[in-house]
Amino acid sequence: MFQNHKIANDIYYVGVNDRQKHKFENMLPLPNGVSYNAYLIMDEKTALIDTVELAFGDVFVNKIQSQLGDKKLDYLIINHMEPDHSGAIRLIRQYYPEIILVGNSKTLAMVEGFYGIDDNVLEVNDGGELSLGSHTLQFYLTPMVHWPETMMTYDVKERVLFSGDAFGCFGNLDGAVIDKDLDVNKYWDEMIRYYANIVGKYGSAVQKALLKLTPLDFEIICSTHGPIWKKHISEVVDVYDQLSRYNAKEGVVIIYGSMYGNTELMAEIVAQGVAQSGVKNIIVHNVSKSDPSEIIRDIFKYNGLIVGSPTYCNELYPEVESLLRKIEIRQVKNRYFGYFGSFTWAGAAVKRLETFVQTMKWITPDFAVEEKQGLKEDNYHACMYLGKKIGEMAKTPIVVEPHCV
Ligand SMILES: Cc1cc2nc3c(=O)[nH]c(=O)nc-3n(C[C@H](O)[C@H](O)[C@H](O)COP(=O)(O)O)c2cc1C
Ligand SMILES: [Fe+2]
Ligand SMILES: [Fe+2]
Repeated sequence: MFQNHKIANDIYYVGVNDRQKHKFENMLPLPNGVSYNAYLIMDEKTALIDTVELAFGDVFVNKIQSQLGDKKLDYLIINHMEPDHSGAIRLIRQYYPEIILVGNSKTLAMVEGFYGIDDNVLEVNDGGELSLGSHTLQFYLTPMVHWPETMMTYDVKERVLFSGDAFGCFGNLDGAVIDKDLDVNKYWDEMIRYYANIVGKYGSAVQKALLKLTPLDFEIICSTHGPIWKKHISEVVDVYDQLSRYNAKEGVVIIYGSMYGNTELMAEIVAQGVAQSGVKNIIVHNVSKSDPSEIIRDIFKYNGLIVGSPTYCNELYPEVESLLRKIEIRQVKNRYFGYFGSFTWAGAAVKRLETFVQTMKWITPDFAVEEKQGLKEDNYHACMYLGKKIGEMAKTPIVVEPHCV
């Protein structure tokens, strides 16, 4: 029944849209949904590249059956074992008991660990090949993009890179699946949000993968989430290259927590100071209102960051603390950082922000602003100056050479 999208000669899209899930990994909101992409290669031998979340198994199997007709399904290539892609492995084995599961040693150990399967498997190594007839598949191990077993599969004949999560983004595929047939503008910010939150920590692993893959000169990228990239390949690779080097655009993100408005007022003045520097990209986030995944996205986008917090039970305001942990986990490199805070009887927020910037090894001016109770004139000027100073710093890019993270 299903008429699958054709991606290249003999290669079909058999993925699905998830328009139901509220939060990816139970954490990251999906206002425009997410797709789980899988692909089928129809040659003398047939090969499925990855599966989808089990909840969509029914449609998924129907799509595969529509394409195969009375042909067998010979191989399942497993590029990544995260359950959004491996979830339907057992289901596929029920329909196609003779199918051979193809993965590297780490993949196959996880196949056994998650799904209890240890038969009909084929182990491949880095650079290994598998012939399907006229199509030859090459396998490239790309550990930590985004799990240790992650690999990519390259179809030599059609120059298609099946890249797993790499080059992926949030957002459903509405009607069409290839970038040239879609309005891609809505995907760019979602690509950064996806990268920053999910792959963000593994910049050096992404750099190693790019070094390995760029010589392949691929013409199509088939990722496991979001559009198939044909027309915008160089932009997509550049987004991943820049983000994985933690390179960022000129701009200042101001994040504050506030219960009663005192720290919020300081953030307003800081923002005014940044504007005085001439920087135009100024994004202010109330940490209790903005979604953390959007804040993390903006921290990856812009090179300046200013954080403000009240003191709370002799600590940072917990929502700010939680955000700092999210930044620390991702080991974001090379940012200009300013900080400010407030207290009523004994300040702790500014001290904690000071240890944070030392941990991150970021560039920071030799002062911060700390106010006791309501904002007074000297600290009003200090907030303005702090904003202006970080704005001026942000005008000098921190350039990181390619592949040296
Ligand atoms: C639940 C709670 C806990 C607080 N804990 C401390 C504290 O440990 N030390 C302190 O000096 N001030 C503490 N304060 C006072 C605030 O840090 C201070 O009033 C601050 O300026 C509030 O900023 P805001 O108006 O932006 O919320 C606390 C306030 C609240 C509501
Ligand atoms: Fe993943
Ligand atoms: Fe994924």
